[in-house]
Amino acid sequence: MEKRKLGKSDIELSVFGIGCWSYGGKKEDYWGAQDQSDAEAVVHAALDRGINYFDTAEAYNDGRSEEALGKALGGRRDEAIIGAKIPPEHTEPQTLREHCEASLRRLGTDCIDVYMIHWPITDHSTDDAFAAMKDLQAEGKIRVIGVSNFGVEQLGEAMDTGVRFDVNQLCYNLFSRGIEDGIMPMCAEHEIGIIGYMPLLQGLLADKFKTPDEIPEVRARTRHFDGSRPQSRHGEAGAEAEVFAALDGIREIARELGMPMSRIALRWCIERREMTCVIAGVRNLEQLDDNIAAFSHSLPADAVRKLNELTDPVMEKIGTNADYFEGRGNSRIR
Ligand SMILES: NC(=O)c1ccc[n+]([C@@H]2O[C@H](COP(=O)([O-])OP(=O)(O)OC[C@H]3O[C@@H](n4cnc5c(N)ncnc54)[C@H](OP(=O)(O)O)[C@@H]3O)[C@@H](O)[C@H]2O)c1
Repeated sequence: MEKRKLGKSDIELSVFGIGCWSYGGKKEDYWGAQDQSDAEAVVHAALDRGINYFDTAEAYNDGRSEEALGKALGGRRDEAIIGAKIPPEHTEPQTLREHCEASLRRLGTDCIDVYMIHWPITDHSTDDAFAAMKDLQAEGKIRVIGVSNFGVEQLGEAMDTGVRFDVNQLCYNLFSRGIEDGIMPMCAEHEIGIIGYMPLLQGLLADKFKTPDEIPEVRARTRHFDGSRPQSRHGEAGAEAEVFAALDGIREIARELGMPMSRIALRWCIERREMTCVIAGVRNLEQLDDNIAAFSHSLPADAVRKLNELTDPVMEKIGTNADYFEGRGNSRIR
């Protein structure tokens, strides 16, 4: 498995990482019940096959994702790079420290390798939050400081704090290419690594849903789908027609290349050198086997060009707002 250097840090991440949002999940949680033995099988097989990055957050299943990942890693903690995230509302210095220590306990470790501010801070000082992150780093509680969902303006504010950070975790997939306009070039210019999340658009790019109506409500909240969907809050028109037309074309490319759509979608994300790593939610060994195969060889340049052309109409319809859950007026990413 190829590894890429994370920003200016001394950490190298495998280009494919495991998204652990579903881990520790119960029936009523976002991803439903997650079997711990499946999670453990995925974590061990991933490590055996050269994947070193595992992504979690205190917000995932009220801390149970962190617990489940820590338990799954067990005695193999040293082989893994753990990425965890702190909600922005918990980044005032004393609160940040307490929440970081709680994450460390749940993960069963004394250091979080990559600690990211989950979304931009809106209600208190970014300077104080970054200074507190730096203190935690100096004490060895975190190795690399990171952010997530930061736009150009917010990256500028973060850089103005003078505290070095090495990663921005962002939504990136064939239908969510907003970061290409501004955020991705800025990260490349300043050697800030990018970890791409939601590469399968929560299953759609694994060819799971043949019509818009088949998509579960909770997975149809993004701006790709009409704002009248029950759990949606963005209030925009969506791009169902463009998305499903492009899916037909992607399916055709997948057929020509003799691989499932999920592999094309995953591999496409890391064809860009600006991307350090892409993380997909992997719930069982079958999905791991399927997804890992995407990283054994590159996509032909011609296929990448065609995939971009096929998905351009979706980009044009939904625009470059990189917050896929909120409309342009309320975007949390600036
Ligand atoms: N920083 C942030 O704000 C942020 C936001 C969202 C996510 N994330 C991180 O990014 C990770 C990945 O994003 P995500 O989980 O939301 O979306 P995703 O990776 O696009 O989709 C994951 C889901 O797709 C299905 N799947 C995976 N591989 C498959 C395959 N080979 N064939 C068919 N279906 C497959 C599984 O769902 P089913 O089996 O249930 O259908 C899986 O849970 C998360 O786990 C989390 O760590 C970060």
